Amino acid sequence: MSENKTLAYGHQGLKEANISKVEEVMSSKGRNGKITVRLSKQRAITTSPLYEKYEIQKYDLHPNYYFNACANQIPSGVPEYIDDGQQYVERIVRAMYYFKQCALIGPSGTGKTHIIYLVAELTGLPVWEVNCGLQTSSYDLIGRFVGLGKENWIDGQVTLWLRHGGILYLDEANMMKQDVATRLNPVLDTRGHLVITEKDNEIVPRHQFGYCVIAMNPFSAEFSGTKKLNAAFRRRMSVWLNFTYQSIGDNISDREMGLIVKRSKVDEDTAYKILRVGAEMRRQYQEGDLPYGPSPGDLINWAVLCNDGVAPISAAEETLIALTSDAHEIQEEVRRIIASVFE
Ligand SMILES: Nc1ncnc2c1ncn2[C@@H]1O[C@H](COP(=O)(O)OP(=O)(O)O)[C@@H](O)[C@H]1O
Ligand SMILES: [Mg+2]
Repeated sequence: MSENKTLAYGHQGLKEANISKVEEVMSSKGRNGKITVRLSKQRAITTSPLYEKYEIQKYDLHPNYYFNACANQIPSGVPEYIDDGQQYVERIVRAMYYFKQCALIGPSGTGKTHIIYLVAELTGLPVWEVNCGLQTSSYDLIGRFVGLGKENWIDGQVTLWLRHGGILYLDEANMMKQDVATRLNPVLDTRGHLVITEKDNEIVPRHQFGYCVIAMNPFSAEFSGTKKLNAAFRRRMSVWLNFTYQSIGDNISDREMGLIVKRSKVDEDTAYKILRVGAEMRRQYQEGDLPYGPSPGDLINWAVLCNDGVAPISAAEETLIALTSDAHEIQEEVRRIIASVFE
């Protein structure tokens, strides 16, 4: 399934109207706690308050260039990404700076999409996202005619990205059918271009600040070893970053617990138990015994209801249990895990 997904974190971008305020903000930095980073006298790279948390200042991904036409595709307000010292943000930005593209590998819920939106906000890049699947077609990626007449062409996500620049984010890239993926090969040569055969062989060169990130889930049920990422695709990615759950099995991360407490306001004891359930479910997911491993976001949802006064087990019915599967036996297994921790 492929869609022009609404950016999850909003995308006000950097509006022209804000720009004149930037210098004001700079000079008042520290007083209101808000840090705005200025690229030149006129424009800012980012207004993210998280900018100084990550060491990415030496990588300018669009020197003296501003994405005016698609500023509304630049995410804003993306929450902090926590890790246990792996420095994922820095490594992604560095890979984009030197190689223009990179690949993220990890099970669902390890924050791959989240971190790309954060990186985009921090570096001031628009995002063009494609959620790849077996149904993803060249219409979605490249474009299509929507009626009679040459003027009725609509660009797909990849074409938009080639023209405007920013980050092309191909989520679950290994789920795409081979013939569709193959059309991306010339585009992923960093100096590549696309020939739109559908449209009188129009040649669309890759934007000078066009970066590509692909994400893959090595454990998805549909994956089961049958759909390897095509070799041509693989060769074109220089950097591969592995994402794992912060807490899994008996290993409980203090930072992830802190995240749950911070985002749900639930008490620490409940947060700890919730995370233990999540960690055990993730272990079973990686063993192939459960169809889904919960993300920090899923656990936070459960915790929010607990914090509202719902009993943990009832709160799990509405969130974690229903989310994991419709199948009775699988839901029973999740209930068993919850009972073993909470009772
Ligand atoms: N390290 C992390 N720090 C903060 N939030 C996280 C982290 N990992 C995952 N999340 C949260 O968990 C949820 C799922 O993350 P997502 O980016 O969709 O995972 P993926 O794309 O790997 O499947 C989101 O709500 C996200 O904000
Ligand atoms: Mg994702």
